[in-house]
Amino acid sequence: MTDQTPLNGQAVPVPQPAHFAFDEESRAEIDRTLAKYPPGKQASAVLPVLYIAQRQMGRVTGSPWLPLVAMDAVADVLSMPKIRVYEVATFYTMFNLRPIGRYHLQICTTTPCWLRGSDAVVAACRRATGIKGWHETSADGLFTMSEVECLGACVNAPIVQVNDDFYEDLDHDSTLALIEALRRGEAPPPGSRAGRQNSAPTGGPATLTTLENLGPDVPADHPPAFGTARYPNPATLDVK
Ligand code: FES
Repeated sequence: MTDQTPLNGQAVPVPQPAHFAFDEESRAEIDRTLAKYPPGKQASAVLPVLYIAQRQMGRVTGSPWLPLVAMDAVADVLSMPKIRVYEVATFYTMFNLRPIGRYHLQICTTTPCWLRGSDAVVAACRRATGIKGWHETSADGLFTMSEVECLGACVNAPIVQVNDDFYEDLDHDSTLALIEALRRGEAPPPGSRAGRQNSAPTGGPATLTTLENLGPDVPADHPPAFGTARYPNPATLDVK
């Protein structure tokens, strides 16, 4: 570690590592990412390349965060001024500017999640991890809790994002169970905890359960059954 450089008005200076270099896995991912951008427009890849740097820190140290030297490496690889990389990294909450736990519990408390019980989810997270305040890390170093704005999955509220995965339709008990599974080193499947299919209504479809009365223009056999003349099975087609 070198100096403890404060960045963007952070109250507590963060000990910074002296070096960062992209490893082979990251360099391959950067090559694939930059190939999607026109020549000379590499700076547009700053968000995904910052992610690549943050993921490498998580892989190597167990804590996905962005020290200054990693942001500098991003600036070098994209041939852009360091300050422009700092501006992006300090704007978006998904970039961690200080070390965090292995599991980043990002709890949405915006109105739809709050109305659907995010207070109980927060309480369960605090109870299961022993964390008292936001942006704190548990004593065992496994969990960091952050309060976030709408995660764009309100229909399945309340939501907790853990690292890159969404856990949905949570309540107090299912949140406790989720955190205990993570503590055991398991990888619980993301998605609804209420048995919902994606964002379909709980309990199954409530509308369009029948295709009757769709009007005179809809063929009687709509939708066509798979394997019929109107919806042939491609495997059986005689394509020359
Ligand atoms: S309000 Fe929580 S996901 Fe939108």
